[in-house]
Amino acid sequence: MNPFYLRNFLKLSDFNSENILFLLNFSEKIKFKKIIQKEKKFLKNKNLALIFEKKSTRTRCSFEIAAFDQGAKTTYLGPKDTHLGYKESIEDTAETLGKMYDGILYRGYKQKIIKKLAKYSKIPIWNGLTNEHHPTQILSDLLTIKEIFPQKNINQIKITYIGDSTNNISNSLLEASNLLNFKLSLISPKKYFPKKKFFNKYSNIKKNIKLTEDIEIGIKNADIVYTDVWISMGEKIENQEEKIISLKKYQVNKKILKLSKNPFVKVFHCLPALHNKKTIFGKEIIKKFNLKNGVEITDDIFNLNKKIIFQQSSNRVHIMKSLIINCLIKNNNL
Ligand code: CP
Ligand code: NVA
Repeated sequence: MNPFYLRNFLKLSDFNSENILFLLNFSEKIKFKKIIQKEKKFLKNKNLALIFEKKSTRTRCSFEIAAFDQGAKTTYLGPKDTHLGYKESIEDTAETLGKMYDGILYRGYKQKIIKKLAKYSKIPIWNGLTNEHHPTQILSDLLTIKEIFPQKNINQIKITYIGDSTNNISNSLLEASNLLNFKLSLISPKKYFPKKKFFNKYSNIKKNIKLTEDIEIGIKNADIVYTDVWISMGEKIENQEEKIISLKKYQVNKKILKLSKNPFVKVFHCLPALHNKKTIFGKEIIKKFNLKNGVEITDDIFNLNKKIIFQQSSNRVHIMKSLIINCLIKNNNL
């Protein structure tokens, strides 16, 4: 039985570990089918909408490629394209689109907006990032882990996340660790620890989830060091200065990675990354805060790990495809 059929995909903790493993397994298979050009098209005659209230490269493209590979048609509604929020409520937008489309990928602000969208549209909604969660990214990361550690089970891996532990990536990592029992350490300045209510839900029952300000303690024996931008999309500008100053010493660089005591430690980044001066924002921040060789990650470390980092992003296609097929098609034997 397909556990995703006609369900919403709003956050990882709405599912159990078997469901998540089922989806990863499906993704591996469908990735292989694409490589050998033997993909069956399950989504002919399906129409999918993308509502994006924030920018995106990977999430939009991977979803659309997944849809096109499978024969579906898409409509992209960018931040300035709909009446949503200004002249039309979420409820009315959801009811309208729910009667036209078979499913919606949503990227936006608060999680409660996507919940409302799901409630009123009555068609499957996939979370393409909210302030609180980024579940499709973490599924791609899990698929990447399976591929780069074929000799290990996910529950034998230790991930150390360094940076802003209040954001969507660290929240979804917490949920994934709780479901799949991999060790997770979050390293941040205290001010950027996860919300207590959210964190305690997991750390109280799971001994393998740790939270610390101390880099040496948190990174020891990590298999993967994961980082993300320090300033997420939609964050208030006035917080930025103080935040960057307090995160400065948490930059992923050679010195920090040495503390893992693992010469084979891998580095993950969900992207986009500020690892050099080739972006307007990166250049500005590096100069203003006198950062060395990058913002949250240095250029040398990014380049050493870029094969894996871009594997994380290309795996988004297979995860998106698995989600769309499983939520919309009951019997989907590959
Ligand atoms: N990682 C990720 O979601 O990238 P985009 O913001 O480009 O979609
Ligand atoms: N935390 C980042 C993730 C980007 C994929 C953000 O929300 O901007």
